[in-house]
Amino acid sequence: DWTMAAFRGEAIAAIRKQVGEGRVLCGLSGGVDSAVAAVLIHEAIGDRLTCVFVDHGLLRLGEAEEVVRLFRDHYNIPLHHVEAEELFLSALEGVDDPEVKRKTIGRLFIETFDAEAKKIAEDGRGAPQFLAQGTLYPDVIESVSFTGGPSVTIKSHHNVGGLPERMNMALVEPLRELFKDEVRALGRELGLPEAFVGRHPFPGPGLAIRCPGLITREKLDILRKADAVYLDEIRKAGLYDEIWQAFAALLPVRSVGVMGDGRTYDYVVALRAVTSSDGMTADFYPFDMNFLGRAATRIINEVRGVNRVVYDVTSKPPGTIEWE
Ligand code: XMP
Repeated sequence: DWTMAAFRGEAIAAIRKQVGEGRVLCGLSGGVDSAVAAVLIHEAIGDRLTCVFVDHGLLRLGEAEEVVRLFRDHYNIPLHHVEAEELFLSALEGVDDPEVKRKTIGRLFIETFDAEAKKIAEDGRGAPQFLAQGTLYPDVIESVSFTGGPSVTIKSHHNVGGLPERMNMALVEPLRELFKDEVRALGRELGLPEAFVGRHPFPGPGLAIRCPGLITREKLDILRKADAVYLDEIRKAGLYDEIWQAFAALLPVRSVGVMGDGRTYDYVVALRAVTSSDGMTADFYPFDMNFLGRAATRIINEVRGVNRVVYDVTSKPPGTIEWE
């Protein structure tokens, strides 16, 4: 795509001009936006970019390994993988309120990133003066319209807002003129794997908001397995790209079932899939019943701790895409 090739060249020139001989820090979330920003900046300034991946232990099955493999091994981008599962899960102990979950995760995320940034600043190569963010055009618009507007917060979205000011860094935002589909096109242009570029959006607080009620490591493990089976079925059916977001949620409910000669008393998994163009409104995806039956059977057979699967047929509004 010639437009993206041109954009790539211009963006690289702009990054070089802004950064000069300086160093840039970039937080990777595992999502498309921060990944594209990082690869683009790396192409512009090489190893003067350092990435920080705060792994809060609330990612999907195999996701953290995939990020590390892609950035450190494939692209050779200096990457600090901060394994902070213990820290996050202990802070979330006893927390069941969705907004408290978001605030707790957001605060810890910033503190963890901050601490890692301090270490990087002391590695003898000079402190980074720039912080890269994968801000898109819609984010720019949204943050403008938020100021002064009526503020009814349905869900506080966690991001690293406030971080650059606190750390006294200038922002590098090479994607701020792009829409999501353009970021995907740029990702392809930069050679990011299709499976990575075409990914569904994933919320910053991760599985914490797909595990309504109290979060435990056991529940997260069950959820990760159920979610992986569900997505595997969606991919096999060739439906992944038609869907905006699909995921499993682990309900804080146990139900009675039968397995062989015995009675089971296990968790209920809710499957969700929606179509949407921007996440602001969404329709539930009208799966074929055979598909749902297949996914449910596989989840119950393959994931210990689950004996019932339900499908969420709520659109947005009145529902939200996530359960919390
Ligand atoms: P809702 O659930 O509000 O979600 O319909 C709309 C879109 O936003 C994502 N989402 C979040 N993303 N932090 C994020 O970074 C959050 O706290 C958060 N909550 C929801 C959700 O996955 C969907 O794409």
